[in-house]
Amino acid sequence: MLKEKLFSKEKIEIGPESGYDNYIMAIESSCDETACAIVKNGREVIANVVASQIKTHQKYGGVIPEIAAREHLESINVVIDEAFKQAKENANILPNDITAFAGTVGPGLVGCLLVGLNAAKTLALVYDKPFIGVNHLNAHLCGNYIDTSLKPPFMALLVSGGHTQIIDVKSYSEQTILGETIDDAVGEAYDKVARLIGLPYPGGPRLDKLAQEGNPFAFKLPEAKVEGFNFSFSGLKTAVLRLVKSFNEGELPVNDICSSFQECVSNTLLHKLKKALKQSGYNQVVIAGGVAANSEIRKKIFNLEKEGYQVFAPPMKYCTDNAAMVASCAYFNTNTFDDVNVEVFSRVK
Ligand code: KG4
Ligand code: ZN
Repeated sequence: MLKEKLFSKEKIEIGPESGYDNYIMAIESSCDETACAIVKNGREVIANVVASQIKTHQKYGGVIPEIAAREHLESINVVIDEAFKQAKENANILPNDITAFAGTVGPGLVGCLLVGLNAAKTLALVYDKPFIGVNHLNAHLCGNYIDTSLKPPFMALLVSGGHTQIIDVKSYSEQTILGETIDDAVGEAYDKVARLIGLPYPGGPRLDKLAQEGNPFAFKLPEAKVEGFNFSFSGLKTAVLRLVKSFNEGELPVNDICSSFQECVSNTLLHKLKKALKQSGYNQVVIAGGVAANSEIRKKIFNLEKEGYQVFAPPMKYCTDNAAMVASCAYFNTNTFDDVNVEVFSRVK
């Protein structure tokens, strides 16, 4: 794909067809991680830095947007400096060797996105390189290209704090959303249920840990019956609330509740994904997004290998928010924003 250098207006070829090594530096700041990475040819990470704000937001039980934006401002220069340092040490790559600079445009928290996106645009201007704006959800999918030889077409299950989608990825830039949640996203359901049973933020990973100590069949929780490839998780959340209320304080079988909830969620996701896979005829399937770090969801989806499918899931560090996936997306996905005046957006358009 042809991309324009910002000052000189010279057009250069970027991406798999370019015929030379591309080094893309990307910045991600859509929620509570300030991240910067440099990736060679969309697959080889030569620098990867993530500054997490978890400790800050723990006090409040969730992400406070204004505080998150301020923390991004404090960390952004630090993560960029560190990424340049790692690139020099790991691959002798200097700032001028960067082919293009990329940044997450949305969806996410507007104040947070602005910090990272403006930094990426500024770097592109300073070094007179193309700027590439990236959609955060596409970036999560591209986490699967890192360190693998995965090529479309494949079926994808994208599960994060804000989204739950089954996506038919036909080519690097052509995708169709087959279904999505009609209410809560999976990560949101995890975080809400975690709060219900008194677990601190971030609830998802903690719930996952406790679930591994419990009995998944202790309580039968309802799998929502939703048409087609869509999902619904708000009924399940209410069912857990009712269950929690049926116990006296101090007698809550926390591990069994976590485990039964996890069993229900993972079955729901697996059933719909399998249906989509069968319909498509694809033999490759990927999971992506923060909830793809979940032990039971990974286990059930990797079990599809026994049925002859090839299963891909990013390693944990590329499941939750990071900038390497953004750089990979800028390289592979032609469906990006090239205009340096592109504005951030909070929701999927
Ligand atoms: O993709 P991500 O880092 O941010 C968004 O773009 O939303 O996903 C964050 C979500 C949170 O809801 C978090 O609780 C959930 O992913 N999460 C998990 C696990 N690790 C992260 N949920 C369940 N099990 C996990 N192991
Ligand atoms: Zn994310």
